[in-house]
Amino acid sequence: FCSRLVLGIETSCDDTGAAVLDEKGAILGESLHSQKEVHLRTGGIIPTVAQRLHRENIERVVQEALERSGVEPSQLSAVATTVKPGLALSLGIGLEFSQRFVRQHNKPFIPIHHMEAHALTVRMLHPVTFPFLVLLISGGHSLLAVARGVDDFLLLGHNLDEAPGDTLDKVARRLSLIKHPQCTTLSGGQAIELLAKDGDRKRFPFKTPMGQTPDCCFSFAGLRNQVTMTIMKQEAEEGVEQGTLLSCVNDIAAAAQHTVAAHLAKRTHRAILFCKANGLLPSSNPTLVLSGGVASNLYIRKALTIISETTGLHLLCPPAKFCTDNGVMIAWNGVERLREGKGILSPNVDICYEPKAP
Ligand code: KG4
Ligand code: ZN
Repeated sequence: FCSRLVLGIETSCDDTGAAVLDEKGAILGESLHSQKEVHLRTGGIIPTVAQRLHRENIERVVQEALERSGVEPSQLSAVATTVKPGLALSLGIGLEFSQRFVRQHNKPFIPIHHMEAHALTVRMLHPVTFPFLVLLISGGHSLLAVARGVDDFLLLGHNLDEAPGDTLDKVARRLSLIKHPQCTTLSGGQAIELLAKDGDRKRFPFKTPMGQTPDCCFSFAGLRNQVTMTIMKQEAEEGVEQGTLLSCVNDIAAAAQHTVAAHLAKRTHRAILFCKANGLLPSSNPTLVLSGGVASNLYIRKALTIISETTGLHLLCPPAKFCTDNGVMIAWNGVERLREGKGILSPNVDICYEPKAP
């Protein structure tokens, strides 16, 4: 290999991921172990369970990525690992493993900020130059930021309570969608998207959050409260037990999904106008990047397509596989940092290091 090679490791939440990339961003080998099914059965992530599963899988996942790439540890230029944000117990497993690995093989270590990695993945796939606007929406986050450089993010808005994916997951759990024949293996967000297709969103006109708040932050807890109240009211009217509604599940799913989409679209619209007024984006071909697990929702994507079209922004959204957590995005962030010589640590440094938040 004439190009420099980076091993990326991700364990911040419920996916154990590893990948080897070359300096151009070619994926030489990757491996991903998802804990989704276990957590779906327990009705949410139990941190100690996530930690145990990361511990059981990390060695194999990293080995697999290396074997598939045909790269020996000695050939690596650096190891990049997520150090924040995430579940402390989950992050700890990736950190512990990486610390041992870089010392054993005497490799530089590159600490990675998980959200920065989500934001920059698009550059592995498209020739997007800085600055660009990015909307990240997942089970743990919602944020709007201007990506100005590999380690330079201007945060315009973040979630004040729960993240959109978390809200959809909780609504899905309240409706017991896991028991729905079409939804047994789907995440809450996926189940809601599927059921919403046959729903009438207008039947339950939920209020879009933060209508009067002049900033770009997000709030979904109030929406979840509205949805829960509606579910309780319908259950009482139908005289059924909690979590056994039948008649209006599709309509509730459609209305909840629509309100999430409307909130995301309005805040993003605001952020775009702010960027334009302050010259934060290039005048030619300004770009909006959409990523995170919730970005795979086609209804939400459509809402953001409309916003970008009306404001003259070019919308880019990586394929679902790169929108959700994986080792590739971490390795790519390592490549970007290696190219610029930013944030590269010696193998012996104590890696409880926290890079700057975006
Ligand atoms: O990025 P991700 O894989 O993990 C993190 O949270 O970091 O995102 C997972 C979240 C879950 O809350 C899941 O319900 C949501 O993304 N999600 C969706 C869809 N697919 C996954 N939400 C709405 N529509 C979808 N199609
Ligand atoms: Zn993530």
